[in-house]
Amino acid sequence: KAKLTNGKTVDTIPGSEQSVPGATESCENSLDDESFDDFPGGPLTVLYGSQTGTSEAFSNQIQEQGHEHGFKVRLIDLEDIETDDHVRDIIYSPEYLDPKTNRVKVVFIVSTYGEGEPTDNALNFFNILKSKLGIATDGPCGMDGVADSSFFEKMDYMVFGLGNKQYEHFNLVGKFFDSALEQLSAKRIVELGIGDDDDDLEGDYESWKSDVLWPTLKAKFVDNDSGTEKCIAEATRASKPNLQYSLKYVPVGNTSSSTNETDLDLIQNSSKFYFNSANCPITVSRELRSSADGGSTLHMEIDVSKVENRYHTADNLAILPVNSSKVVESVATALGFDLDAAFVLDAPLSDSDKKFQLPFPSPCTVADYLGKYCDLVSPPRRSEIKILSNYTTDPVERSNLEFMASKEGKEEYDSQIISSYNGIAKIVSELATSINMSLEEFVSMCPRLQPRYYTISSSSSMYPNSVHVTASITAGKQTDGSDYKGVCTGHLSSLAVGDICRVFVRNSSFRLPSDTSKPVIMIGPGTGIAPMRALLQERSYQKLVEKESIGRNVLYYGCKARHLDYLYESELDAFQKDGILDELHVAFSREQEEKVYVQHLLENNGCDTWNLIDKNGASVFVCGGTRMGHDVVKCLSKIASEFGGLGEDDAKSYFDKLHKEGRFVQELWS
Ligand SMILES: Cc1cc2nc3c(=O)[nH]c(=O)nc-3n(C[C@H](O)[C@H](O)[C@H](O)COP(=O)(O)OP(=O)(O)OC[C@H]3O[C@@H](n4cnc5c(N)ncnc54)[C@H](O)[C@@H]3O)c2cc1C
Ligand SMILES: NC(=O)c1ccc[n+]([C@@H]2O[C@H](COP(=O)([O-])OP(=O)(O)OC[C@H]3O[C@@H](n4cnc5c(N)ncnc54)[C@H](OP(=O)(O)O)[C@@H]3O)[C@@H](O)[C@H]2O)c1
Ligand SMILES: Cc1cc2nc3c(=O)[nH]c(=O)nc-3n(C[C@H](O)[C@H](O)[C@H](O)COP(=O)(O)O)c2cc1C
Repeated sequence: KAKLTNGKTVDTIPGSEQSVPGATESCENSLDDESFDDFPGGPLTVLYGSQTGTSEAFSNQIQEQGHEHGFKVRLIDLEDIETDDHVRDIIYSPEYLDPKTNRVKVVFIVSTYGEGEPTDNALNFFNILKSKLGIATDGPCGMDGVADSSFFEKMDYMVFGLGNKQYEHFNLVGKFFDSALEQLSAKRIVELGIGDDDDDLEGDYESWKSDVLWPTLKAKFVDNDSGTEKCIAEATRASKPNLQYSLKYVPVGNTSSSTNETDLDLIQNSSKFYFNSANCPITVSRELRSSADGGSTLHMEIDVSKVENRYHTADNLAILPVNSSKVVESVATALGFDLDAAFVLDAPLSDSDKKFQLPFPSPCTVADYLGKYCDLVSPPRRSEIKILSNYTTDPVERSNLEFMASKEGKEEYDSQIISSYNGIAKIVSELATSINMSLEEFVSMCPRLQPRYYTISSSSSMYPNSVHVTASITAGKQTDGSDYKGVCTGHLSSLAVGDICRVFVRNSSFRLPSDTSKPVIMIGPGTGIAPMRALLQERSYQKLVEKESIGRNVLYYGCKARHLDYLYESELDAFQKDGILDELHVAFSREQEEKVYVQHLLENNGCDTWNLIDKNGASVFVCGGTRMGHDVVKCLSKIASEFGGLGEDDAKSYFDKLHKEGRFVQELWS
């Protein structure tokens, strides 16, 4: 047994101390003949890199369908692959080497996050790839470097990348994995598959799965398709999915679910945040917009003195939302769950080999479970609708759900689920009221409620024990005319001073230049002001407390009108008076007929902007909506062309280089 750095132990491969990973020639421990009958395609490994759960859910589908197609599939969270040894011991574990070829076949399902960066759980594996390519492992994703290794020579692989075309570095991580593995001598089974979350990500994935993944794997690894007939017959017999967990009801009163005391080894990587976050009190909550605006942006201060990880200025604060009691009650009523009952999760029912990993803390009450751990409001994927259809007792509702889950029913799914923003709560309580499922079944099918990130708007030097958040409250009208609020911002707006919220800190890329005399250009309309306020506080601290000489600070801010939503106006005035903020350019978009946006003001100052960046080494920070970020990049490229004489490609390379140096940072969300 090898001890992994995370404390887990795995079987090692005899002789794997050598430099070639997984290079055992012995197939003694591979699938034996009997199991090969069951799985004519042999073993298949799926590795996923996921931030908000989509890649993980997609990977689960491959595992569920594996038997039907004749493959014995195991799923691995990329977080488990931290070192070269893990590549050897986990990816090349003997029972997952194909006995016919003595090679491992791997499907990578990986999302791109941040600015063309890997998801948190894929970061270590990403760095392994980079180091094997001879690329320095610091800084953002690089595509350059020379293939000089045979590190993955015993691997056959295919990659599906998840991304969103609204981001500049579309699917960069999927592309990087695909090219890096080839350069490291792995054999590509099929061309890279790509999904676009700006359009129909699930459709892209389903088409890839049914038209590319399974047909290619079967053609290559199953001798004749008749071998899979038995598997298909077995797999289609069960209409309801296997239960992943069993649960036991426990006496109420014993549910102070000790989230921090659970053995980390027993926790699912993808829901670690439920266990690792801290309860923190709100100390300030005030409205930043005027009442005439009609919308709401809250300035909140949260006491983080109990949080273990200290934050850096302009890091991200992840907040764990809580569903409204109305939504929780609607689900409990529809499915007949007793909100006051308490339960504890027990070992999984289906696969006795599978390590039991907790998806959320228990014991807990049903009310806590539905409130804190279930995504009840956002539209479920088609695959989840398909699962729900198995639990309807009304044939009409069943066929309606089945149709929406099918390829042909995409339009119906778009109109009934996506456009009307109907989540699981609405489905079970209004669209398919005959759904009848036990709590155990619900726990196995319901997607987990994800944390929401907020760019911290305070300086950690000035406020070491308090994190400030600038939250624009998501609100609007549903298609039926009723009002809605976003899950997290709705929760935040319901909290009063003294109330508790659960949070954890995540690094961001906003870092002021280590040479404090360098200038900084900040572009942050709307809530994009958040990190800029933090950076200005930090610059103020450097100048007034640490007595450093600080470079020029230039801010581009945008809002609708001065009297409506000019966030932090008095603080920005004070920064100017104190000589911290040298230039403040505000784009009031609705004070005149034609829209004026930050990029228009930036373009007007093109010559100065170029000089600050190119001659004086300014850092450029951008934060806010993805469309704005896109427009700002276009504007900067135009400035580089007009004042620096760079063509489009050269301008792109110029800003890519700044990005790699941490001098051009964008944090965008839609
Ligand atoms: C790195 C990062 C930093 C961020 N920083 C900030 C920040 O500093 N400040 C900030 O305000 N935000 C920030 N965000 C955005 C923030 O994380 C959340 O996405 C945002 O607050 C919305 O979350 P929510 O749970 O309130 O909305 P959700 O419930 O997740 O809703 C998301 C979207 O779905 C739609 N929607 C929701 N419910 C309905 C409905 N019933 N009917 C129709 N449509 C609906 C709306 O378009 C809504 O915008 C950041 C995001 C990231 C990734
Ligand atoms: N649905 C919601 O309730 C909700 C809530 C919070 C955040 N969000 C999303 O989060 C992002 C930021 O929201 P926010 O509240 O911080 O900002 P915001 O108030 O929506 O916008 C701030 C300023 O940016 C302007 N703007 C709009 N499009 C722009 C562009 N392409 N380039 C430059 N400026 C642009 C706006 O002008 P105009 O508005 O006059 O065009 C406004 O003056 C947006 O993507 C928004 O959709 C949505
Ligand atoms: C904050 C944020 C940053 C993102 N950055 C990128 C990006 O740089 N390039 C890209 O193609 N997609 C980007 N995406 C889109 C995600 O890759 C896409 O939504 C994906 O489906 C998420 O998968 P996951 O749930 O497995 O994390 C980003 C999404 C978010 C929320």
